[in-house]
Amino acid sequence: MRKLAAIFTLFLGIHTSVSAVEGMWIPSLIDMFHSDMVTYGLKLNADEIYSTNQASLKDAIVQFNGGCTAEIVSDQGLILTNHHCGFDAIQKHSSLEHDYLRDGFWAKNFNEELACPWLRVTFVREIRDVTEDVLAGVTESMSSEKINMLIKENIAKLEEDATSNNSHIKAKIKPFNLGNEYYMLITEDYNDIRLVGTPPSAIGKYGGDTDNWVWPRHTGDFSVFRIYANQNNESAKYSEDNQPYKPAHSLPISCKPKKSGDFTMIYGFPGHTDQHYASGKLKFYMETERPARIKMRQKTLDIIKPAMNANQLTKIQYASKQARIANAWKKWIGQIGGLKQLNALSKKQNFEEEYMAKAAEKTDWKKNYYGVVADLNKLQAQNEKYELARAMFIEYFYVGAEIIRFSNDFEELAFSSDKLESEGKLDEAVNKLLRRSKNFYKNYNADLDMQILTATTPVYLEYTSADLIPDGLNQNWENIVNDIQENSVFRDSSTLQPLLENWGKKSIKKLQKDPALLYSMKLMNAYRMKVAPKYAAFVNEEEKLMKRYVGGMLEMFPDKKIWADANSTLRIAYGKLEGSAPHDGMQYLHYTTIDGIMQKYDPENPDFVLTDRFIELYKKGDFGDYLQDDELWVCFTASNHTTGGNSGSPCIDAEGNLIGINFDRSWESTMSDFMFDESRCRNIIVDIRYVLWVIDKYGEASHLVDEMNIVK
Ligand code: ARG
Ligand code: ASP
Repeated sequence: MRKLAAIFTLFLGIHTSVSAVEGMWIPSLIDMFHSDMVTYGLKLNADEIYSTNQASLKDAIVQFNGGCTAEIVSDQGLILTNHHCGFDAIQKHSSLEHDYLRDGFWAKNFNEELACPWLRVTFVREIRDVTEDVLAGVTESMSSEKINMLIKENIAKLEEDATSNNSHIKAKIKPFNLGNEYYMLITEDYNDIRLVGTPPSAIGKYGGDTDNWVWPRHTGDFSVFRIYANQNNESAKYSEDNQPYKPAHSLPISCKPKKSGDFTMIYGFPGHTDQHYASGKLKFYMETERPARIKMRQKTLDIIKPAMNANQLTKIQYASKQARIANAWKKWIGQIGGLKQLNALSKKQNFEEEYMAKAAEKTDWKKNYYGVVADLNKLQAQNEKYELARAMFIEYFYVGAEIIRFSNDFEELAFSSDKLESEGKLDEAVNKLLRRSKNFYKNYNADLDMQILTATTPVYLEYTSADLIPDGLNQNWENIVNDIQENSVFRDSSTLQPLLENWGKKSIKKLQKDPALLYSMKLMNAYRMKVAPKYAAFVNEEEKLMKRYVGGMLEMFPDKKIWADANSTLRIAYGKLEGSAPHDGMQYLHYTTIDGIMQKYDPENPDFVLTDRFIELYKKGDFGDYLQDDELWVCFTASNHTTGGNSGSPCIDAEGNLIGINFDRSWESTMSDFMFDESRCRNIIVDIRYVLWVIDKYGEASHLVDEMNIVK
């Protein structure tokens, strides 16, 4: 309560001369920050935003398949999210005959909607502060092991009690502010989700990797799904008899003109931020860990990119891998640049000095907090070789050459075949790997993969301390790579498939000698023996110190605006629709228009191709009611603090209407995961009027627009 009171006082004192608002706020604490939102222009009451007694905005917002966010826009369970969030589902429904990625898809009626039984959406029914209950019984004199055990037991019991009389409901308790607080999330999953519509990639992914993380932006990054429920409107597995879900609330949509300075809020599920890193860790990330990972990915991308441009099959096979590798790679480069520009390190160091000076003011504080900064930075210095080794292992093993992780999946079959057989599990294991192989080779190019293996191994070795790699690898890696290239059965489905189809002694012998499988096992083993235990001990120690460090901030700096780092729970970020000026001599406008799509059009560059239909419609100039001053807005920027996971989140105006779908941040602002900068951090939103124009005019699916509640 003490902390909450402190935050409350703080918000009363805030003035609106600053535009952007740092932070991703917990909706159930709305009373603490509602008055500040009002000073930014919000017109809604607190309980219209979050309430457990009446329908509120939160009832229209879901987590989409555990990662992204989506929002309900009709009383028949229609939801909007990003194209890149629906990408997987769209790809799964695509074939040569029905290439929905290339051509788009629009269901004409409920019957044509495509079932996606692998998808789920999650509603948040309630967020409850359970800090006191979780910490019940914890005393200062207890050992940290004892405390952890007690907390674990308390959490298990609280979660169980909360769900005991309702099987649909899940309860999950998560630590906030590094374990200084705990909240219980009461959630409910719906599992019958159907694809309703998607624009072609030439709209939904327009700009591709070139424009990813970049403003000005012209991507129509949206797709349309629907939630289905059983006859009682309850969550149910896919069934033909299911009905469109009737939500407690759906977001009205505003097509009214917008202007710079308008209130905006992003309501969604930000994934992860690290605002409290001590200076030592931030320095390690900026100067060592991220550059090493960037270099490793650069090697892979340098091989994939030209191969994709040279060959159509490779382009299809590697499109989604390339997008995944490049997305984080590009973000990291942006983050390091942004942190340097901000002088983030010296800002951290200055704060650490301030923190220690503060701690020196009181005996209690001195005892609890004075030494924690030095301890954190010392711990980091002592352990970063393990943290780096872990990062390099992840990049090399899980992001680099695919033959390593793919062959590793065969370890059990190769070395425990007898055991599997005696347990009656052999057939199942062989069949599973056969299916996995079919999927794998569909998108695999062995020559490219060998090039990647050759290029990334030296980077793995360069950055991993010699005592943390498999013995002798520094000397013999080239032989190993050659051996894999010449002799591994995993290079080609035509050598692996027959071994699986006629599984027997011969297959076992062959796999047990396979150089790729043996190498992957060596790597995994070295990681498990030499790196993982040290890293785990480090993290354990670090968590304890970080909890104390942040606890000290909450106690000693009651005026500091402290928000809990993102942790994949429902949050609110608010601010204004506005542009920015991150570089000397230039200014980013706050919106882009359809004219910019035509300006970027380049039939020679796959990132900027357009369909004939789009060009035709553009020339025809039929923009319906979606124009503002004769312009069709495509995207706009706002100063809402967002991160990965906020993709698909609704951008909501002062009255609670949907005005766009959040999907990205500008490159200059990606460092907001570590440090927010009011003048530069901007999230990127696709304007709802462009979304509606695409559905209505391009997709000729006006029945979907009719289903929505459009406020004029
Ligand atoms: N950068 C955005 C986010 O992190 C969008 C990524 C999808 N687009 C792409 N071209 N890879 O998720
Ligand atoms: N593009 C991100 C996402 O997919 C959003 C961001 O990082 O700003 O969640």
